[in-house]
Amino acid sequence: MTASLRLGIAGLGTVGIGVVKIVRQQATLLSARTGTQITISAVSARTKGKDRGVSLAGYDWEDDPVKLATRDDLDVYVELMGGTDGPAKASVEAALKAGKDVVTANKAMLAVHGQALAELAEEHGRVIRYEAAVAGGIPVIKALTEGLAGNEITRVMGVMNGTCNYILTRMEKAGLTYEEAFAEADGLGYVEADPTLDVGGIDAGHKLAILSAIAFGTKPDFDGIELEGITRVSIEDIRAAADMEYRIKLLGVAQRTGRGLEQRMQPCLVPANSPLGQLEGGTNMVVIEGHAVEQIVLRGPGAGEGPTASAVMGDVCDIARGFRLPVFGQPATTLEAAKSARSELPAPYYLRMTLLDKPGALAKIAAILGNSGISIDRMRQYGHDDTNAPVLIVTHKTSRAALDEALAAMGQTDVVMAPPVALRIEHV
Ligand code: NAP
Ligand code: HSE
Repeated sequence: MTASLRLGIAGLGTVGIGVVKIVRQQATLLSARTGTQITISAVSARTKGKDRGVSLAGYDWEDDPVKLATRDDLDVYVELMGGTDGPAKASVEAALKAGKDVVTANKAMLAVHGQALAELAEEHGRVIRYEAAVAGGIPVIKALTEGLAGNEITRVMGVMNGTCNYILTRMEKAGLTYEEAFAEADGLGYVEADPTLDVGGIDAGHKLAILSAIAFGTKPDFDGIELEGITRVSIEDIRAAADMEYRIKLLGVAQRTGRGLEQRMQPCLVPANSPLGQLEGGTNMVVIEGHAVEQIVLRGPGAGEGPTASAVMGDVCDIARGFRLPVFGQPATTLEAAKSARSELPAPYYLRMTLLDKPGALAKIAAILGNSGISIDRMRQYGHDDTNAPVLIVTHKTSRAALDEALAAMGQTDVVMAPPVALRIEHV
C-alpha cells in the first residue's frame, strides 16, 4: 500500500495556487518520486468564494488558519499567507504543538521569529521547511544546509529580491518609469502584499538574515542588518552607472569580520559585464564562498507562482521521503547570538553630485577627497546648464568612515548643490 501525506494549505494567492496546481497536476510524478500519495485535505484563505482559476473541489474549507493547522486529517501544515506575526505565526505555532510538520515561504516570520519557532519545532520533534522563503525557485537552503555542510562558510552574497531587480533592469533597459516597472513586477506576482517590504529592502534583508543564520551558525538577526532599499535610486544614477559600465543592484552581503557578523543589504554598483551585472528581471543570484568549495554561484527565478511553488513542493517531497533536519541546519539551541559589526573593509565608491559651475569648484571637491585620504579613480562631468555641473566620481578603495568625513566636508562648501549620492562598488 502506498503511504500518504496529507497537506493543509493556508493562503491561496500566487504561491498557494501554484502549490495546489502541482499537487493536482503532478500526482503520478510526486508519488513515483516519494513513494507517497501527496494529497490536500483542507485549505484556507480570506475570501471563500473567490475564483482562483483552479478547482478546489474535494478540499475542505476552513475560515480560520489555526483551525486548519490543527486538523486531525493533516500531516503537514503549509503556511502561504505571509506576515511576520498574525495568523501566520499563530497557525504555525499551533501546527507544531499539534504535531504537524510545517512548510512555509514566509521569510518575514522566520527572519524575526525563526529562533523561537525552531526551538518550538525541536521541542515537539517537528520540522519547519522553507526553501521558497529565500530566492524563490533556487534551492539555496538545501545548498547551504546539505551540499555545503562540510564547509566553513566565509561569505554569502547576492541579489535576492525579484521585484527590485525587475524594476532596476526595466528602468534601465526599457526606459520605463519606476511606476511602470513596478506595475509590471506586480502583474508577474513578484510583489509582496505590502510593497514597501520589497522596495524598502526589508524582504531581501529577511532573506539575508535567514542565510546568515545557516551559514554562520547564528540566531537569525534581522535587526543587525545595515539596510537600505531602492527608493532613493534615481534614473539619473541608473543611467550614470551604465555610462561608467556598472549596473545598480540591491545587493546583500554577509560575512564574519574580526569584530562580528557583517550583514548589509543596500543598492551597490557591480560591473555591468559581471554575472551579477548581467542579472535581469526577476532573476536572483546567490554567491556562496566556503573554505573547501571556494565559490559557487546559484542563479534562477526568484519569485512568481511556478518557481516558488516548485520550492515549496521540494520541501513537501523531502518530508514525504522522511528526510528531516534542524531548521537552520544545526540544533536551534546551539545557534550563537550574532554580534553585529558594520563593514570596515575598504571598497571603491561611486559619487554623483551637482556642483556650482564656477572656477575652482572641482578643485575644492578633489582637495576634500584628498584630505580624507581618498584617491580618485575615474571622473566624468556631464553637459551642464548655466549654473550647475553634474559630476561623477569613482574612487579607489576607501573606508566608509573616510568617505563619510569627506561627504560631511563637501556639505560645508558653497559649491555642492545637494547631498551627493554615494554608492558602494562591489566586485565578486
Ligand atoms: P498573496 O498572493 O498575497 O496571497 C496571500 C494569500 O493568503 C491569499 O490567498 C489570502 O487570501 C491569504 N490570506 C492573507 N491573510 C489571510 C488571513 N488572515 N487568513 C487566511 N488567509 C489569508 O501572497 P503570495 O505572493 O502568494 O505570498 C505568500 C507567501 O509566500 C508570503 O509569505 C510571501 O512572502 C511568500 N513568497 C512569495 C513569493 C512570490 O513570488 N509571490 C515568493 C517567495 C515567497 P485571499 O486570496 O482570500 O485574499
Ligand atoms: N517579493 C519577493 C521578491 C517575492 O520580489 O523577490 C520572492 O520572495
